[in-house]
Amino acid sequence: MIISMTNDYPQRYIYTERERESNSEEKRLFAFSTLFCRRFHSETDQNGMWWPCGRNGGSSFSSSSTAEQVTEGIDGTGLTAIVTGASSGIGAETTRVLAMRGVHVIMGVRNVVAAKVVMEAILKEIPNAKVDAMELDLSSMISVRKFALEFISSGLPLNILINNAGIFGTPFKLSEDNIELQFATNHMGHFLLTNLLLDTIKRTTHESKKEGRIVNISSSGHQWLNYRGGILFDKINDESSYQKFCAYGQSKLANILHANELARRLKEEGVNITANSLHPGAIATNIHRYNRILTGIPGVVKRLLNLVIKNVQQGAATTCYVALHPEVRGISGEYFADNKIAKANSLGRDIDLAKKLWDFSMNLIKVEYLVPIVDADGILRE
Ligand SMILES: NC(=O)c1ccc[n+]([C@@H]2O[C@H](COP(=O)([O-])OP(=O)(O)OC[C@H]3O[C@@H](n4cnc5c(N)ncnc54)[C@H](OP(=O)(O)O)[C@@H]3O)[C@@H](O)[C@H]2O)c1
Repeated sequence: MIISMTNDYPQRYIYTERERESNSEEKRLFAFSTLFCRRFHSETDQNGMWWPCGRNGGSSFSSSSTAEQVTEGIDGTGLTAIVTGASSGIGAETTRVLAMRGVHVIMGVRNVVAAKVVMEAILKEIPNAKVDAMELDLSSMISVRKFALEFISSGLPLNILINNAGIFGTPFKLSEDNIELQFATNHMGHFLLTNLLLDTIKRTTHESKKEGRIVNISSSGHQWLNYRGGILFDKINDESSYQKFCAYGQSKLANILHANELARRLKEEGVNITANSLHPGAIATNIHRYNRILTGIPGVVKRLLNLVIKNVQQGAATTCYVALHPEVRGISGEYFADNKIAKANSLGRDIDLAKKLWDFSMNLIKVEYLVPIVDADGILRE
């Protein structure tokens, strides 16, 4: 069984039952997930609630805090944010809570029908919410360029970019740009999008005199699910080396390295824009649609896991905290988890690896410059 799979999910990504059955990586992932869901220790949070996961030493919030709690009292009026993958899960909740705080949110989505449902629910709850949706397929560089061009032509400012969309553990597939699909969607699409929107963020920061924030949603999976060396630069598209969960870890490591190198460059340039990455927690969302990790397990184990996994309101908290909270002002090039600064693994802190990935990604984009570009009217131009 696949968790909460939407009926209108594109057929081309559906994983067959036979592929699923034959994959022994599932077992490895289960072992990983128990580590992923951090160790137990009981504590009482700021609401007097017992919570089996840990509190944050010195931070205002605990791992059980929700996105609403971490943004309580923050006025985001006048800010504009893009949230990618806002049609479900963490992205949808992030959109709702940012909109609740007065932020104008542009949802970057490939599933426009699902996005409309999310928007309608938000507007029903928050009638004065400013929420729009624009089509964006991060696995396609042409789609990313089209989205960026449309956004830039709209003349809207951009204070916050939340690179949230993601896929997890997909069978091997190349994107339309001939890049392995998880790397293409989770990293390359966001890398290109960020580059294309950076001038807009810089201009907004300059004109509004408000800090710009770029937030990459990574995963603690970068620590447990990785290829030797972290990124298979020489074999990024090699099907015979492909392991679906390692490829996810690789793309999530890339999210961290991207934020780190971007932060370094922004600091060097002296602009008032931060770039950070984060692990949102383990949350039962649509992302597990290809794998049975949270569904095909015995009831007793599932009940134990339920004690440590977060709900989506808690899952969106670290994103909203890093995107909006004044405590995070001026902090850049950090990795967050549970609403506080955490430590990525040694690969995630490797400065040379981050530079290498930057050059590698730039190169892939440059190759793509040869592909015709779509303008804001959807017209292909050389
Ligand atoms: N849930 C967890 O346990 C967990 C743990 C660690 C990290 N994360 C990270 O959290 C982020 C959000 O995941 P989630 O748990 O909220 O999963 P989700 O509910 O599946 O949301 C992922 C979103 O990304 C979108 N997306 C996928 N491929 C896309 C593409 N090519 N172009 C544009 N959008 C695309 C999906 O759109 P569709 O609806 O069209 O598929 C969906 O809106 C991901 O980056 C994930 O790696 C999640």
